[in-house]
Amino acid sequence: MSVHSEIGIIGGSGFYHLNLDVTPDDSPDYLDLPTPFSETVIRLSLEKLKGGHVYFLPRHGIQHTFPPHKINYRANLWALKEAGVKKIIAVNAVGGIGANLVPGSLVLPDQLIDYTWGREHSFFDGLNSLHDHVDFTSPYDDKLREVLISAATDLDMPIIKQACFACTQGPRLETAAEIQRLKRDGCDIVGMTGMPEAALARELNIAYASVALVVNPAAGLSHELITIEKIKSVLDAGLTDVRKLLSTSLFKL
Ligand code: HPA
Repeated sequence: MSVHSEIGIIGGSGFYHLNLDVTPDDSPDYLDLPTPFSETVIRLSLEKLKGGHVYFLPRHGIQHTFPPHKINYRANLWALKEAGVKKIIAVNAVGGIGANLVPGSLVLPDQLIDYTWGREHSFFDGLNSLHDHVDFTSPYDDKLREVLISAATDLDMPIIKQACFACTQGPRLETAAEIQRLKRDGCDIVGMTGMPEAALARELNIAYASVALVVNPAAGLSHELITIEKIKSVLDAGLTDVRKLLSTSLFKL
């Protein structure tokens, strides 16, 4: 019997394998999907868990080969759509701008501001018959966010239920002045991979939500330099919480 799923998880930095604390029913299948936007196939793993199945795609590649500005967001989203995915939970490592957004905090953004440039950010490039100008007033799907909020409540896991996600170009981190500008703009967290992923999902009519894990205070907000070593130490503990949240919410989406 062929199995599939309508749920896709996109893993971010440090999250290269799904490894949920739900016993797998079977080993994953791998789907290698060609897309019009990539010369190579996009590999999805179909994870067969007790309770259901889910596709997993680590956006940076399993060896973290692709930096944020080099990720082929269009090919990734296209492959998920081809596989039949209708709902995506994306995981993002971010810097905290708001005073309460300390390392280790889990955040469900409800808004975003896109500061990226030069990325292939739309399927509507005039070369295909798709139409343009999707409504993006609310970039994250409220129903998915509600399920995640209620899973966090069931787990007694603190979660920040609203935040504005600033998506910067990277791969360098921001200057202190840039963070002050993002703060004045009303942003609470800053990451490099939120866009165009969210908008491409909307263009393909896939419901999309992000679980953001704060891994450092944003630039200039602490006296310490931001180092990869410090980020990694927060990631390890924080991703355990993210996995718990996913395990509890996945099949209620
Ligand atoms: N800025 C941008 N992206 C990030 C950060 C940050 O401070 N931390 C993790 N991803």
